[in-house]
Amino acid sequence: MEKNEIKKICCIGAGYVGGPTMAVFAKYCPNIQITVADINELRINAWNHKNTSKLPIFEPGLEEIIIRRRNKNLFFTCNVENAISDADMIFISVNTPTKTKGIGAGKASDLKWVEASARQIAKYAKSNTIVVEKSTLPVRTAETIKNILLRSQENDLKIEKKSFSVLSNPEFLSEGQAIKDLENPDRVLIGGDDEKAIRLLTNIYLNWIPAHKIIKTNLWSSELSKLTSNAFLAQRISSINSISAICEETGADINQVKNAVGMDNRIGQQFLKAGPGFGGSCFQKDILNLVYLCEYYKLDDVANYWQGVVDINNWQKSRISKLILDYLFGNVSGKKITILGFAFKANTNDTRQSPSIQICKDLLLEGAEISIYDPKVEKDKIEDDLKFVSYQVETKWSRKDSIEEASKDSDAIVVLTEWEEFYNINWDFIYTIMRKPAWVFDTRSCINYQKANKAGFNVWTLGNAMENNSQF
Ligand code: UDX
Ligand code: ADP
Repeated sequence: MEKNEIKKICCIGAGYVGGPTMAVFAKYCPNIQITVADINELRINAWNHKNTSKLPIFEPGLEEIIIRRRNKNLFFTCNVENAISDADMIFISVNTPTKTKGIGAGKASDLKWVEASARQIAKYAKSNTIVVEKSTLPVRTAETIKNILLRSQENDLKIEKKSFSVLSNPEFLSEGQAIKDLENPDRVLIGGDDEKAIRLLTNIYLNWIPAHKIIKTNLWSSELSKLTSNAFLAQRISSINSISAICEETGADINQVKNAVGMDNRIGQQFLKAGPGFGGSCFQKDILNLVYLCEYYKLDDVANYWQGVVDINNWQKSRISKLILDYLFGNVSGKKITILGFAFKANTNDTRQSPSIQICKDLLLEGAEISIYDPKVEKDKIEDDLKFVSYQVETKWSRKDSIEEASKDSDAIVVLTEWEEFYNINWDFIYTIMRKPAWVFDTRSCINYQKANKAGFNVWTLGNAMENNSQF
């Protein structure tokens, strides 16, 4: 039976991609019933929580959409099987972290959740259902999904086997501005070869996206485009971060260099902000996927080239930890260090691959006591991220509810996420409650360093020689 329009969508995975993406679909497609299904009961309960400030994901603009669409045409459930069997189109938005063991460990993506989803789809979906890869996946995953959808029916005694169309429709949303990106994307990419399935998916997007922004490619180009986009963005960050170290040595100012370089139209200003290193669930994972792919095809020089982007990123994090240690007289044992910002960037409560994790770890291993303030990251998340350090040493860290509480009696403040409230800290007051000499290390160029300096702080800002920070 051929379907002419999509009436019911299921999204497997209610995470940072699945949740906001389906919320925006629900907003612009009131006639489509959308069910987001996840095996994580706590997460689903949070999505269904009466109090919408308790949603599992913080994204500006998300709560408003949930208030309007939830239980109208947007549903969250743990009943994955039902959601699958009801749907005309199924999005796979499950986690695909880097493998930690086995072949490809540290580089390849762990596809066990994708595979499990494909098996569930093969078992419970109706025939002719369209399956859409949404999560970032290694190139040729669509083939794996197709294979599982087809072959896992072999033991099924039914004579008529189900058929499926698989499309790749990668997500380019950037956390912290996911709703904006989903509502007004630079492009929507649809990869596949089934004309009808592509048309049906295109029709959904046409509800709010102009046709010229919807581009179609083959499956592999679509998958590789996603990896390449992320690799290029990450490469720009590693490039500017490498220059930040040269600025600190030479007296050049990284922000002046960035502006001058970015004014070249061919380069542009975006993704040239030096910082403590990129975090987030995608950049490192996607580059490592690319590296793995290159190694598989014996393109070792290409693999090394992209590996360099990740190496510089790790180097940036460790050089910041080392530099804090050096400025604090080579010893942080028994000292209290305040960490401002634990999320991997502002406007999200996500901490995956956050540079704060590595930098806190380094300082904890040196014996420092860490006091963390982040407006959106909860204590249990920090606990989870830092628990691997506590296997090695006895750790002393705490999460505080304000900048003031976190800074009390500390020797140094390290700004690691560019939250807006850090732009206007009352440095005069903070100085009075800290131990002296009081230091502030700003890795995001976001504080008012003149005011901090005037208040009495020793100020270090990323990409600037120390003397640049103390002229005022
Ligand atoms: C990224 C891609 O932007 C998005 O298209 C893709 O779908 C998923 O991966 P995300 O990880 O949410 O999105 O955040 P992004 O804004 O790209 O930032 C990633 C990291 O780079 C953050 O840690 C951020 O602080 C850092 N960054 C970004 C910089 O250090 N400097 C910059 O100029 C930009
Ligand atoms: P992303 O950033 O890609 O959205 P997340 O980790 O935030 O990644 O979300 C992925 C979600 O997918 C998790 O909530 C996880 O519980 C869910 N998930 C993984 N495997 C399955 C599955 N087989 N069925 C349903 N949900 C799944």
